[in-house]
Amino acid sequence: MYYPDEVVEEVRASNDIVDVISRYVKLTKKGSSYFGLCPFHSEKTGSFSVSREKQMYYCFGCGAGGNVITFLMEYENATFPEALKTLADRVGIRLPERAATKEEREAADLKSALLEVNKEAARYFYYQLKAKQGARALEYLKNRRLSDETITKFGLGFANVYGDDLYRYLKKKGYSDSLLSQSGLVRMDERGGHDKFWNRVMFPIMDVNSRVIGFGGRVMGDGTPKYLNSPETKIFDKSRNLYGLNVARSARKPYLLICEGYMDVISMHQAGFTNAVASLGTAFTIQHGILIKRYVNQVILTYDSDEAGTKAALRAIPILKEAGVSVKVLNMKPYKDPDEFIKAEGAERFQQRIDEAENSFLFEIGVLRRGYDFKDPEQKTAFQNEAARKLLEFGEELERNNYIEAVSARYGMGYEQLKSLVIHQAGQYRFAGPKRQEEPAAARKVREKDDGSRRAQRLLLTWLSGEPELFPKIHPYISEEDFTDPLYQEVALMVFQQLEKGEINPGGILNHFINDEEQYKSVAAIFHTTLEDVSTREEQEKAVSDIVRRVKTDSLERAGRQINDLNSLRQLLKQQEALKSLHISLE
Ligand code: UTP
Ligand code: MN
Repeated sequence: MYYPDEVVEEVRASNDIVDVISRYVKLTKKGSSYFGLCPFHSEKTGSFSVSREKQMYYCFGCGAGGNVITFLMEYENATFPEALKTLADRVGIRLPERAATKEEREAADLKSALLEVNKEAARYFYYQLKAKQGARALEYLKNRRLSDETITKFGLGFANVYGDDLYRYLKKKGYSDSLLSQSGLVRMDERGGHDKFWNRVMFPIMDVNSRVIGFGGRVMGDGTPKYLNSPETKIFDKSRNLYGLNVARSARKPYLLICEGYMDVISMHQAGFTNAVASLGTAFTIQHGILIKRYVNQVILTYDSDEAGTKAALRAIPILKEAGVSVKVLNMKPYKDPDEFIKAEGAERFQQRIDEAENSFLFEIGVLRRGYDFKDPEQKTAFQNEAARKLLEFGEELERNNYIEAVSARYGMGYEQLKSLVIHQAGQYRFAGPKRQEEPAAARKVREKDDGSRRAQRLLLTWLSGEPELFPKIHPYISEEDFTDPLYQEVALMVFQQLEKGEINPGGILNHFINDEEQYKSVAAIFHTTLEDVSTREEQEKAVSDIVRRVKTDSLERAGRQINDLNSLRQLLKQQEALKSLHISLE
């Protein structure tokens, strides 16, 4: 999708970043910036800053950063054209109508054709369930105590016993073989089309907007596989969709219930828990986490009580926490899953279990505990050490102490005893080297790539963008060629060109990198580099001089490696000598 640069810039410049972001994140003014809790990673202190001057946001915790357009792209999971459209609408700018490229048109057409095929198939399955041939399937569902209302609400259906029933039906409707195979509903070979699903009860899978994007089909009885699922297609991405979310999103509860399967979601909804969703057969992903975070800040895991369910919970907990969602775990015992629990005990008892759901950290420790025999002092000690190590995941002392208290009470250790063990583990941990689990991957990447020289270059650009009056003092020494990295050079060139015109606009500069997430994050970091302990004018002068000297020295050194005549060398030495006494006055 292509829009002229001027249009993109007009839309960006007309949407003040503080106004837009404060609709999603609670911001408080601190100095010249606004701060809040980062919506892109889990934190308790606000490292997320938004600057009206720069028209940029940046998280000092996780390295997320960009301008108002990338914010919407990341927060709403939107594409660039979608974000641009939202912002244009917001301020009443009409985006130019423009002919889509052939590829775009084809991709869009394919997607809507696939949605249409799926909808048609869902209708067909539903019709079959209610017809004579569906009697057995209907009976199966009734035996599982689903009401007519529930069956209709979830659009359940039946795939007939023949191997090409749906294929022939859809062909008659005029859909091509190629489209049908791309839908995943049909497999083509030399003998013709074969249905993926036959003789199964069908569960249409919908996206948040209730469009059918795939299916699950269950055997009626004990055959294998128990469930068959649509493969991933152009419209079905398993890691970004949750079964039931189209209903659960408007359940008006502050939390979601997360379970494993179709039947669990349906049973819970039928029992009144319309905030239940399932990640279908696939492992829980960070995209699932981000999706959930758009609707709620808390989830309760209602996975199966067996070992697989426990493992799934242990996997999902850190992912959800990373997405900023707090987690509790429901105790299903002695039943296998929510469907069985509700059938046996009813909705009220289930609600009770929801109310009693266990804090996810204590759940994790509880699972850990099962691996140790406390009668053996060695094993007991090993458990205590392991628990202490795990307690280190809480960065804040108050919170950590509360957990130390809870764990020590539960496992018969003294509070002080466990606390000193935690402190001891902290020392070991630091010694054992940087495993640093708490640090988000993005921040770690930024840090690792960094060396002093690049940092100096970024500091310079950050300062110039914040204090344009530095420019005439620095410009005699530094040009864009003094920047090492091609990306830094590109940004420096734009900064210098803007400053020469007497204007600086980091948010606009970022537009040029909007199509590459890695790049726009790096550019955001370039404009948000900070130096601690610089407060007085004197310290500032020294810092600026040091930085300019550092950038220039590195640059000259690089140039020196290319030199092979005496004259140039002499010049270089002279420049280097001059640098030593360089002092930039800020008066
Ligand atoms: P379960 O085996 O726990 O099934 O699988 P269930 O939800 O209790 O189903 P019922 O009550 O026997 O009908 C949980 C989920 O894992 C996926 C499905 O999404 C299922 O809902 N699954 C399971 C498959 O995709 N294929 C399978 O063969 C089994
Ligand atoms: Mn079940």
